[in-house]
Amino acid sequence: MQGRELRGELDAFLAETEQDLVAFRRDLHMHPELAFAEYRTTQRIAERLVAAGLTPTVLPRGTGLICDVGSGDGPTIALRADIDALPLQDEKDAPYRSTVPGACHACGHDVHTTILLGTSLFLAQQAAAGLLPGRVRLIFQPAEELPGGALEVMAHGGISGVDRIFGLHCDPRVDVGQLGLKSGPITSACDRVVIRVSGPGGHTARPHLTADLVFALAKVLTELPAALSRRIDPRSSLSLVWGRVEAGTAANAIPDDGVAEGTVRCLDEDAWHAAPDLIKALLESVASAYGIEATMEYTRGVPPVVNDEDCVQMLGEAAERALGAGAVVPTPQSLGGEDFAWYLESIPGAFARLGTRSPETGVTYDIHQGTFDIDERAIAMGVRVMATTALTALFESSHVPAADEITSALA
Ligand code: NI
Repeated sequence: MQGRELRGELDAFLAETEQDLVAFRRDLHMHPELAFAEYRTTQRIAERLVAAGLTPTVLPRGTGLICDVGSGDGPTIALRADIDALPLQDEKDAPYRSTVPGACHACGHDVHTTILLGTSLFLAQQAAAGLLPGRVRLIFQPAEELPGGALEVMAHGGISGVDRIFGLHCDPRVDVGQLGLKSGPITSACDRVVIRVSGPGGHTARPHLTADLVFALAKVLTELPAALSRRIDPRSSLSLVWGRVEAGTAANAIPDDGVAEGTVRCLDEDAWHAAPDLIKALLESVASAYGIEATMEYTRGVPPVVNDEDCVQMLGEAAERALGAGAVVPTPQSLGGEDFAWYLESIPGAFARLGTRSPETGVTYDIHQGTFDIDERAIAMGVRVMATTALTALFESSHVPAADEITSALA
């Protein structure tokens, strides 16, 4: 890599391909596909990779694919894009608005997909010229919104042998040309809990002959969040909040069953792992005090995305080289979930927020809304960041270079 002018090569590559990439994104945007139904999207990506001389492997369900660029015994760096759309109506007035009723790329996954495609085409050129010091694993992941697509990729060996993994997400609160980065947790966990209680019902005149179920359920609803706040480090911001409760049908009859449902949100991974067992233990202690039976159904969402510090540094250095000094900005931990977190439970990596807001208009089109759109200059920016990150990570993982070697290689 020594002496190569990566930035100049990316300039030349993007001068030729940027308009084509924008067109590719608009085509995906017009034809959004929901989780595990991304057949057309997968086919479009595969066609482009094959045309570039690569050999993609479509996942067994027929949606999503994995493709290696380069070979040999060097390190393997994975780059991941999610490809699915949201079940929302597109409310934009753009010529490339969704043609599918009730489906819309309102989370920017069409942009992530296009950026990874552009990066793939650039890396394929590098590999053909014998300039890749290792292997880059391209992961076009289905069903991030479900979530669960990351688990599907992992179940089929998608990250086996991978040393580090990187990903991006559109951020409409950051200007185009900037990249938001944070070490440690950058997204949050959100799980769902359903509690069912039962006991002998009866007349409200004689609660002592029953399990006074409504009273007991009320204690469960108030005691569990209260006890959790004293049993879990408050810095983890673990919160159990009820959204639905139901018991009984008459004013003078104690029912014999009831149900409560809520969510558990959490900023911290350790607390997230501890939450189900602790909630169950607290539930059992409250239930036994009032003589009722209680069961808990706990459905895991995703853990928080916890960025590895070294990988964040690599990505930050690469972004500064690719976009210019001052391009990397701090970003807060969000309360949203992102299934990239599953990869980071197995291998180190980093997830960044790519600025997609036009500084000229200053309008923030928020994600998960039917009006979401981006400044399309973000696509070329994303390709620059991803390609430079992959090469930086391969280079730094393959040997310990001298400082001037990195400077000249990535100038
Ligand atoms: Ni998303």
